[in-house]
Amino acid sequence: MNKITVSAPGKLMLLGEHAVVYGRPYIVTAVGQRMRAIVELTEKPVFQLNAPDVQVENYQKPMSDLGKDDIPKGAKFVEMAVSQFTSEVGKTGIKVTTASEFSSQFGFGSSSASTVCVIKALSELTNKKLSNKQIFDLSYKTVLDIQGKGSGFDVAAAVYGGTLYFVPPGKMIEPLKIASLPLIVGYSGIKADTVTLVNEVLEKAKKYPKVIDDVYTAIGNLVRQAKKAILKSDWLTLGELMNLNEGYLSILGVEGRKLADMIYSAREAGAYGAKLSGAGIGDCMIAVTPAGKSKAVTKAITQAGGQVIDVKANVEGVRIEK
Ligand code: PMV
Repeated sequence: MNKITVSAPGKLMLLGEHAVVYGRPYIVTAVGQRMRAIVELTEKPVFQLNAPDVQVENYQKPMSDLGKDDIPKGAKFVEMAVSQFTSEVGKTGIKVTTASEFSSQFGFGSSSASTVCVIKALSELTNKKLSNKQIFDLSYKTVLDIQGKGSGFDVAAAVYGGTLYFVPPGKMIEPLKIASLPLIVGYSGIKADTVTLVNEVLEKAKKYPKVIDDVYTAIGNLVRQAKKAILKSDWLTLGELMNLNEGYLSILGVEGRKLADMIYSAREAGAYGAKLSGAGIGDCMIAVTPAGKSKAVTKAITQAGGQVIDVKANVEGVRIEK
């Protein structure tokens, strides 16, 4: 075999963002919008990449130059993922084509999903047949080498799929076995800058260490309770815990006016609970909603200026496509 197609899901953080960076647990769900990669071993020792979703077309360089020189932003994750396998592929080249079912704007984790796809594909093509934990570790290392920071939750969702309770940095990865998750997702239209927001929260923690550490601890506690609620499909309790989590995110300063409007509108329209998902200020908010209220909640989020995205939560992790 010298060619394979692999896909991996995007993600949404359900609870625990920011506190996770300081070791507290979080819960993430994999979403139905997937990243796909076709990976091929070729004769000439050249790396080729086509990733039209991020404006990378016919990007090429010798395999021996992988990771060197200025790498275009859209090529970084795939190139660094490929570079983990240079010794295994010997003198052959590698051609990668990626295609995403979702806009990289949503904050669904397209970079991590493409990293995971490439590592899974090369693990198969080189017959290494890595386990999911090994794929997680190698993908997380690749992402950290590029970003320097990050809890790896998007990598975990892309590898394992489903809904995960996770204690960083991979100390415990527990799949939460549930049949479904009644989520409504609203996109704010604002791009969240994760690294900037993580640094802003860090500054706040330096100034008010005791206060902010207590906030992280409180978030960790509510995440542990939310895990129990999810396992019982107790969406009312999950919603209430999401509202508590949002309060703490507001203390951290990452709520943002637009997201707050969408979140409070969703609650007023009958959601059990609503909060931001991810770094905050922009990207998406999520609402846990009783079935009978989903139309009203959708309308309320739209009226608050959000775009409701059709998202299936709790989907399968990385997989080989036929
Ligand atoms: O905005 P996103 O989807 O990259 O989420 C960031 C979540 C943080 O907890 C703020 C950072 C992290 O790496 O976990």
